Amino acid sequence: MDYLQIQGPSHLKGEVRISGAKNAALPLIAMTLLAKNDVTITNIPDVKDIKTLLKLLEHLGATFTHDTHKVKINNSHIIHTKATYEIVKTMRASILVLGPLLAREGHCEVSLPGGCAIGQRPIDLHLKALEMMGAKISIHGGYVYAEAKEGLKGAHIVFDKITVTGSANIIMAAALAHGKTTITNAAREPEVVQLCEVLRNSGINIEGIGTSELIIYGNDRKLLEIKPFEIIPDRIEAGTYLCAAAMTRDSLTLKNVRPDHLEAVTGKLEEMGFSFDINADTMTIHPTQSIKPVSIVTQEYPAFPTDMQAQFLALCTQAKGTSTIEERLFENRFMHVSELQRLGADIKLNGTVATITGPTNLNGADVMATDLRASSALVLAGIIANGTTSVHRIYHLDRGYEKLETKLKNIGASIERLSE
Ligand code: EPZ
Repeated sequence: MDYLQIQGPSHLKGEVRISGAKNAALPLIAMTLLAKNDVTITNIPDVKDIKTLLKLLEHLGATFTHDTHKVKINNSHIIHTKATYEIVKTMRASILVLGPLLAREGHCEVSLPGGCAIGQRPIDLHLKALEMMGAKISIHGGYVYAEAKEGLKGAHIVFDKITVTGSANIIMAAALAHGKTTITNAAREPEVVQLCEVLRNSGINIEGIGTSELIIYGNDRKLLEIKPFEIIPDRIEAGTYLCAAAMTRDSLTLKNVRPDHLEAVTGKLEEMGFSFDINADTMTIHPTQSIKPVSIVTQEYPAFPTDMQAQFLALCTQAKGTSTIEERLFENRFMHVSELQRLGADIKLNGTVATITGPTNLNGADVMATDLRASSALVLAGIIANGTTSVHRIYHLDRGYEKLETKLKNIGASIERLSE
């Protein structure tokens, strides 16, 4: 198994090019199940989760060519409708095939994704919405069996909670349904917005894009002609590099970013004393003499993202005073706290609130990555810690950060990938 060995402390300088957003690419690749043509997608991030989803589509009958950042997918011959446990267990986002497969084929079988390190993560809201659209759903043997022989019908869906992949699944299902679907309390994440925009450019009439109330006019199971498109930049990868530079107290420039997608993150960094030069698709963060403590609550977009919670927790160890971070989305997303404590961080955890007192001199140690974003927080902490930090179980990182160690090395970090 690979691990990362980091010698700290280091300073960072120069430029990083941000990759395409994993969480935009995943639903958009699943969306190709709605297409009759070859769909070309560019700016695909070179990460494991993308390969896993392509493997699932291949099993369903897709053919594709995949160069590092470009994929051309043909789904004209679906031969299976079962997303098996073997694939779904390795990546929860496989659930994204449920909506499009059911809408297109009239039935499908998708393994239940189960819980994961950050919490239970049920899919009840996806299923309830599909039932409202006329699907018959049953669950046995660990699989969701969904059927809508005559196709799905438009409905008024009110999500009890905002769900990102739930919204994506229902948007894709609604695109091929019969009649109008209204989604109230839809997710407004940029990744969901891009999904809607691509569908609109493929002839699906969608109103309310970017708001929490979407109206989708289904085309009654006519497969789509989807034009080539480019994945939006990864706002979480960008936020992670901003935190890295904030922690090493250096100026760093990010290329290929959407600053408007990062406002909650840059807003918090400004509160902490950092400043920015922002252009259309580049931004530079500048350091501050003394980092101010901050209070953060994770919420749905456009509020502060849960996917940046771990990295800010690491950053708060360097702020002068007491910061608090409340995690509102996932009940168990603080596994990195005990690992950061191994590096010397002063963090108290009380339920869903972490209280961090700083600044603390971190010292290198062996730490264990528990999920994707927790892993990146440990790497950032390792860059400023004195001595050697070894981050184990980095397969989590490989799922969602493109070439993290190469990009960090190019800007000055001392980091190596080694095998246990
Ligand atoms: C997406 O997960 C992202 N994954 C996650 O990114 C991200 O942390 C999360 O949204 C929140 O922003 C992808 O886009 C592939 P949710 P998702 O459904 O869609 C509850 C990363 O590191 N809920 O919006 O699975 C759920 O338990 C990751 O890249 C239900 O109760 O999250 C949670 O508390 C990890 N029932 C809340 O809603 C449901 O049916 C939000 O979850 C669905 C969700």
